[in-house]
Amino acid sequence: MHALSSLFVLGTCAVQTVLGRPEAALLREKRDCAIVKRSVDSFIETQTPIAWNKLLCNIGPNGCAASGAAPGAVIASPSKSEPDYWYTWTRDAALVMTGLVDSFAHNYSASLQTTIQNFIVSTAKLQGVSNPSGGLSDGAGLGEPKFMVDLKQFTGEWGRPQRDGPPLRAIALTRYAKWLITNGYKDTAKDVVWPVIKNDLAYTAQYWNETGFDLWEEVPGSSFFTIGASHRALVEGAALAAQLGTECGACLTTAPHVLCFQQSFWKSSGGYVVSNINGGEYRSGKDANSILTSIHNFDPSAGCDSNTFQPCSEKALSNHKVYVDSFRTEYGINAGIAQGKAVAVGRYTEDVYYKGNPWYLANFAAAEQIYDAIYVWKKDGSITVTQLSLPFFKDLVPSITTGTYTTSSPTHAAILTAASAYADGFIDIAAKYAGSGGALAEQYDRNTGAPLSAADLTWSYAAFLSAADRRAGIVPVTGWSAEDANTLPSSCERLQVAGTYAQATNTAFPPSQTPNAAAEPAPVPFPQACADAANVFVTFNERVTTQWGQEVKVVGNVPALGAWDVKKAVKLSASGYTASNPLWSITVPMAAGTAVQFKFIRVGADGAVQWEADPNRGFTVKAETKAASGCSAQKVEGSWR
Ligand SMILES: *[C@@H]1O[C@H](CO)[C@@H](O)[C@H](O)[C@H]1NC(C)=O
Ligand SMILES: *[C@@H]1O[C@H](CO)[C@@H](O)[C@H](O)[C@H]1NC(C)=O
Repeated sequence: MHALSSLFVLGTCAVQTVLGRPEAALLREKRDCAIVKRSVDSFIETQTPIAWNKLLCNIGPNGCAASGAAPGAVIASPSKSEPDYWYTWTRDAALVMTGLVDSFAHNYSASLQTTIQNFIVSTAKLQGVSNPSGGLSDGAGLGEPKFMVDLKQFTGEWGRPQRDGPPLRAIALTRYAKWLITNGYKDTAKDVVWPVIKNDLAYTAQYWNETGFDLWEEVPGSSFFTIGASHRALVEGAALAAQLGTECGACLTTAPHVLCFQQSFWKSSGGYVVSNINGGEYRSGKDANSILTSIHNFDPSAGCDSNTFQPCSEKALSNHKVYVDSFRTEYGINAGIAQGKAVAVGRYTEDVYYKGNPWYLANFAAAEQIYDAIYVWKKDGSITVTQLSLPFFKDLVPSITTGTYTTSSPTHAAILTAASAYADGFIDIAAKYAGSGGALAEQYDRNTGAPLSAADLTWSYAAFLSAADRRAGIVPVTGWSAEDANTLPSSCERLQVAGTYAQATNTAFPPSQTPNAAAEPAPVPFPQACADAANVFVTFNERVTTQWGQEVKVVGNVPALGAWDVKKAVKLSASGYTASNPLWSITVPMAAGTAVQFKFIRVGADGAVQWEADPNRGFTVKAETKAASGCSAQKVEGSWR
């Protein structure tokens, strides 16, 4: 997009007319604003068909750059060496597919529908591919980050598992299931799509409280992005289940605790999210991870809720400023750009990959968060500036003070104009440094702006397209019921629910499922509490000292505990294990009223089984399956004997 570069004007048009500035300066700024807007308008117009074309080129089997890839496999980039991105990553593929389904839902296309269906079928296959993270029987294999383009396992060393893949994939598929329901194809959603989603939701409910690698595949620990995606998938999954006439009790039980944990990434002293905790503390934590979390959790009906880190929430705005400011002095190409103006942004300032550079998708994400915020501010007709978000707003309107500005106040309009210009600035920078013909690689050089690393990164195109949509006021149709899903429990618990997993076998989509506006079904309210008629959520807490590589499991006389078959025993999680409190724990949905006999076992890395001493332990599952709020629960405590 070199043609646009000559029009590119840096660092202007954020200051507003309300400030009573001298006439000449005002006129100049208005003019510069208009130039940046026109420049971005024109970039978006030319880039949109290019981005669609290049994105679809990277999807098998017919994509022009994906020859050899399986149907539905989204390759990360056609680059096969330096770097080799010729794989399908679960996260990248799911994010790309979510954007694709969102577009599809606004603008039906039979060929996109085929692509989406292929992706769902390929996901069903991948869920059954055993890999170095594990297999499907206990869900562990779903955390594998990447596969070969023909859907075979990748056996090399890698940062695994990565626990954002399953929830992100569940979100993508849930969006399509919702489209099916809306258009009268509920049976397809239930029979073909739900069995695939169910595995990924089960994984999320079981493993959310265990460490894994972050979205950049570098830090083993807890990642804000992964936790945000997990919460959202569980909530959307619970809402979808209700629409399908079924229930995801594990989603409802765990979601509030995932949201509760999500709050602990906030650093109130600095007004930003520390993106990696439980590992990765050698970095500041200011990371595009948090911006991506905000935009991918955007729910137009959630207002400016801070718990779910909505784009216009005071926390997410404060974080946006801290994140962007961290790059101001970091990259040579940002030199001379004034405070408060858009700059080139990357993953995090300590980045050393390719010597650490800005990423196109980070610039698009920084813009998208602000477009999302603008959407809500316009829709709600009001903008609230708090003490926490004040520094963000001062960059836009220097004279602003805390308060709520409604459409009757000129400040409301002033903020909207300045925010649009600020967001456009991030796009304009990506446009300035785009490759020839609109090519978007992964990165661009911190000093020269030249494209770097993987060429034609699928995620870069998807990030452009979603930012462009939000700028145009096109927002996703979500299944997220904000009012029900953003309340915190009174205390955070490490509640992990053992899942049951089965490979989806019905993967034939009926033909001719075209849009059918007449079919729109009545809305189904968000399930307020667990209505599981059969089960109680029983938490097993066992204190037992273990060696590295050992696992603790529970096995008993009922099917939920493997019916005394050690191969079907339920593994516990050591996420709460410390030297002074060697806790292993898991929650198992169990049939109400059942008399249970069980034992804990210790399983070595070599598979050797050590049983607890006799006699068997026993208890009776409570009879009530409904609780006032949440699912009926019960605890079983033990120490190794
Ligand atoms: C809808 O999709 C078609 C391609 O299937 C495209 O040509 C058209 O521009 C799209 N329309 C809108 C409004 O996005
Ligand atoms: C698990 O959840 C607890 C409670 O929120 C939290 O303190 C802990 O850091 C979490 N650990 C992991 C690995 O997610």
